[in-house]
Amino acid sequence: MTSQPPIPPIDTSRPHSARVYDYWLNGKNNYEADAVAAERVARIWPGVKLGAQLNRAFMRRATRWLAAEAGVRQFLDIGTGIPTEPNLHQVAQSVAPDSRVVYADNDPIVLQYAQALLTSSLEGRTAYVHADVTEPEQLLESPELRETLDLGRPVALSMIALLHFLTDERGAYDLVRRLLDPLPSGSYLVLTHATADFDPDLLTRVSEAYQSTVTEGQIRSNTEVARFFEGLELLDPGLVVCHRWRPDPSEPQPDITDAELSVYAGVARKP
Ligand SMILES: C[S@@+](CC[C@H](N)C(=O)[O-])C[C@H]1O[C@@H](n2cnc3c(N)ncnc32)[C@H](O)[C@@H]1O
Repeated sequence: MTSQPPIPPIDTSRPHSARVYDYWLNGKNNYEADAVAAERVARIWPGVKLGAQLNRAFMRRATRWLAAEAGVRQFLDIGTGIPTEPNLHQVAQSVAPDSRVVYADNDPIVLQYAQALLTSSLEGRTAYVHADVTEPEQLLESPELRETLDLGRPVALSMIALLHFLTDERGAYDLVRRLLDPLPSGSYLVLTHATADFDPDLLTRVSEAYQSTVTEGQIRSNTEVARFFEGLELLDPGLVVCHRWRPDPSEPQPDITDAELSVYAGVARKP
């Protein structure tokens, strides 16, 4: 049995990534400091608000595909963010009501609103763990996770818009490996990640504005993001700008260039 990390109080005096993202998504769970930081970045990166929505839309398409086509029934979503309907478990359980979902985030505000993530279908189950991705073993051994997921069966590990907050110095690649290693064949890694490949100047200015106010991070190239998938089978269409990942023909295609969006998405299977 492991102890949970101490939960710090919610600090509204400085911006937090979960609340800044909530602001871009037109959510209501953010404060003045978050709005100021979010607007500062949005002035430099006008595509960021639509980009946040397209990032959520990728999460929905990937989750639907995993539940409907790949038959996945267990999901571990790290860096969940403040609940935003539909949440991942609602998407998975709309396809397969017996889906089990564990959410994890290290921001106390996400914990505060986590009740909205626990509205499971009767056949399925959801749980929330206040956890830091930099402590993967603690998360994998937490009682909430162990009571919800069977790690002997495939799990879709989603790290959506999370890994650009983890620098190489903090061991980003090793952390992903330590999360994937205990999962069996047939598990999946789902991720999105900001990139400067299409507009290096824009993303340099975005990084400066974001990292000087919100949190540290690292923008990565296609090759660097693809390294997270090493040893896995990357599904078609590969690592692409997120609205290009298996677009839903029944939905209108967004009016945004790759440079304006600048977020890669990919899904890979553990052989
Ligand atoms: C941009 S939001 C993405 C939310 C959601 N995954 C999505 O894509 O819609 C990033 C989330 O990662 C969380 N996060 C950042 N660093 C983390 C860490 N070290 N451990 C766990 N969560 C973290 C933040 O609190 C925030 O909720």
